[in-house]
Amino acid sequence: MNPVKVGLLGLGTVGGGTVSVLKRNAQEIQRRAGRGIEVVIATARDINKPRSFDTSGIELTSDPAAVVNHPDVEVVVELIGGTDLAFEMVMAAINGGKHVVTANKALIAKHGNEIFAAAQQKGVMVAFEAAVAGGIPVIKAIREGLAGNQIQWLAGIINGTGNFILTEMRDKGRDFADVLAEAQALGYAEADPTFDVEGIDAGHKLTILASIAFGIPLQFDKCFTEGITKITREDVSYAEELGYRIKHLGVARRTAEGVELRVHPTLIPERRLIANVDGVMNAVLVKGDAVGPTLYYGAGAGAEPTASAVVADLVDVVRVLTADPENRVPHLAFQPGALADTQILPVDAIKTAYYLRLEAADKAGVLADVTRILADAGISIEAMIQKEPAEGATTVPVIMLTHRISEGQMNAAIAKIEALVSITGKVTRIRLETLAA
Ligand code: NDP
Ligand code: HSE
Repeated sequence: MNPVKVGLLGLGTVGGGTVSVLKRNAQEIQRRAGRGIEVVIATARDINKPRSFDTSGIELTSDPAAVVNHPDVEVVVELIGGTDLAFEMVMAAINGGKHVVTANKALIAKHGNEIFAAAQQKGVMVAFEAAVAGGIPVIKAIREGLAGNQIQWLAGIINGTGNFILTEMRDKGRDFADVLAEAQALGYAEADPTFDVEGIDAGHKLTILASIAFGIPLQFDKCFTEGITKITREDVSYAEELGYRIKHLGVARRTAEGVELRVHPTLIPERRLIANVDGVMNAVLVKGDAVGPTLYYGAGAGAEPTASAVVADLVDVVRVLTADPENRVPHLAFQPGALADTQILPVDAIKTAYYLRLEAADKAGVLADVTRILADAGISIEAMIQKEPAEGATTVPVIMLTHRISEGQMNAAIAKIEALVSITGKVTRIRLETLAA
């Protein structure tokens, strides 16, 4: 049989990895897919830029539409990034009756509902395994491997750049900006790295995971996102004293009231496997009612790990090219007409435990004022440490761990604590999850 002809949008980190893996593993891939997979045309902004991979046999063009409209191309692989041109090209491909593979989580999180509806109508596939957690086949695992379960919650380290930065800062005492620059040089970071460090990229990925886990439409606009930029070395070391690690976590949980969808730095007990996932590695913990907790681990970013997922999607597309569209695995795991309208909870309604750090005047009665505010709000304290004042300082750092309480109640208590004259500056608050099975 003739090889399946692929058009590639983007020859950057992931595009390059995809070309290399397809060439290097061509025979193995053909044995799996039943047909060869051949990139016939590819686009980049600058087609004369020297590339570190072999583009021989591929027609290069700076016109993305030429890739999508190429008469031989049956599958378009979108690896340009962003949500404007990428959306336009993906919709053009679908409308032209071509299958699509993409690694673009921003595109799927923001426009996925529209893209999947168009794909459904045209009977083509849109595959996006590489969009979440790089090389880890977590979408396939949840969508297919856990299809017999009611997923109760999932929690993941789903941004490689952020985890790389936190790990290097903790283990080597390196500066934030310095590690971010290295992550960019290694090809891990987004074109706009604020997406990585402000939690937006993780929010895109969590939005996708939640839809697949709970059978709800994609709703990135309702995802709460907080990044890693405010984490200090002090908080990392106080957390360690208390037996916790600080990780940037995406958490999606089904509750009786609705779905929690939130991304933020989180204290995790250091004995949990996921607390020990370091560097660019990602991990997603998924709790199903039948299977219990399951953990998926691997490289969350980088050229070939991500290409691994892109190529797996290509193999899937090739395998089902002739299958009846109605019998294919649905994009969001649940049949399109069976998506639920379960509400995404506002952040004030989510419940979690907290780490609080405050600077208190070094005099009697101050802690009693703080604990009274917490008690009046129904917030109980799990642990508390008071540090020695620094040389010549008049305030002392006080660190507390609380039991679970709603974000709204905690916000009100923090506002009262910050209003005390004996408290200096803002209260640092980091959410805490025990992730107990
Ligand atoms: P890069 O910036 O490395 O590559 C983007 C590619 O698209 C480049 O080849 C660029 O051309 C080309 N391009 C951009 N704009 C145009 C345009 N207007 N016309 C033609 N070509 C264009 O990005 P990545 O490979 O890192 O990321 C690609 C996608 O994969 C993104 O959606 C990203 O979020 C996602 N992703 C990335 C991962 C990673 O580890 N990097 C992991 C998982 C997903 P030129 O080379 O000339 O600049
Ligand atoms: N910038 C992303 C990350 C790429 O660091 O996780 C992988 O999606």
